[in-house]
Amino acid sequence: MSQQVVTSVLAADTLKGLSSVPKFLLSKYFYDDAGSILFQEIMKMPEYYLTRCEEQILLQHKEALTRWFGNGEKSFSLVELGSGDGQKTKILLKYLAAQGARFQYIPIDISQKANDDMKAMLNREIPQVEVYPRTGDYFKKLQELNGFASDQKVILFLGSNIGNFSDAETDRFLEQLAGFTRTGDKLLIGFDLKKSPQVIMNAYNDPHGHTRRFNLNLLERLNRELDAEFDTAYFEQHTEYNPETGEVKSFLLSKADQHVHIGMLGQTFHFEKWEAIFVERSRKYDLESIGKLARNSGFRVASNFTDNQHYFVDSLWERV
Ligand code: AVJ
Repeated sequence: MSQQVVTSVLAADTLKGLSSVPKFLLSKYFYDDAGSILFQEIMKMPEYYLTRCEEQILLQHKEALTRWFGNGEKSFSLVELGSGDGQKTKILLKYLAAQGARFQYIPIDISQKANDDMKAMLNREIPQVEVYPRTGDYFKKLQELNGFASDQKVILFLGSNIGNFSDAETDRFLEQLAGFTRTGDKLLIGFDLKKSPQVIMNAYNDPHGHTRRFNLNLLERLNRELDAEFDTAYFEQHTEYNPETGEVKSFLLSKADQHVHIGMLGQTFHFEKWEAIFVERSRKYDLESIGKLARNSGFRVASNFTDNQHYFVDSLWERV
């Protein structure tokens, strides 16, 4: 057997995921430049209620929220994980700037283009805000930031990005955040709440095909970056919601018995007809389990901010 040197993390993760039983790919790889644009299309659809709900929360509660952040007396670092296009955060940034709050904004995102576009947008629209973007995996970037930002911290993790994590990843992530923060530091996390399965399914199985294209872009990315030979006509998206665990799970299903070669891995992978590749989990929560998560990781829930329909919550935690 030929030994191929696996040169990138994407290559290593792809090899691992497609060699596993059952197969999987990591959802963080959705967000290359093309995928970040496709995700913006998802956020624009009326069915994807998450964005509208969180926007409403930030608009309605910006005063109460930012009062928790520090009240203008102390300076602080506002660190955002998975900042994306920054459209929602802009609501808070504008308000903070208008209040004369002293802070620096450190957005961390996996897409360089998302970061560049967002910095340009903020420099244009709120030039008084100091923006220091970082590009990369936020677990890694957080580690690098440790010790850098020594003043008080407010960490934003919006949009229900936390829903992508498994229970083990959530624990590890919150443990890391606890290590990175000191008593009094704040954490604002967006959680999507359990609701009618019909509403949830409309958001993830949309009639416009945006979610389908977003999912298939993962295979196209492997074609682009790993010299893979996926024909996306032979794969389809399948999504289901489990109201007991609150998990939305998305899969790419192989519509045929097929072999796909991946040039950079020097390997061919076999897909049975209707075999599934697990690509994403989007977890829905209830307030009780959110409280438990906070307490178990060294935080207390200072306040829960919800939208009018109680579809979504931005939960404000304080490091104890
Ligand atoms: C960006 C991870 C919050 O899980 O709802 C949207 C991504 N996937 N539609 C989510 C997504 C399918 C989204 N997050």
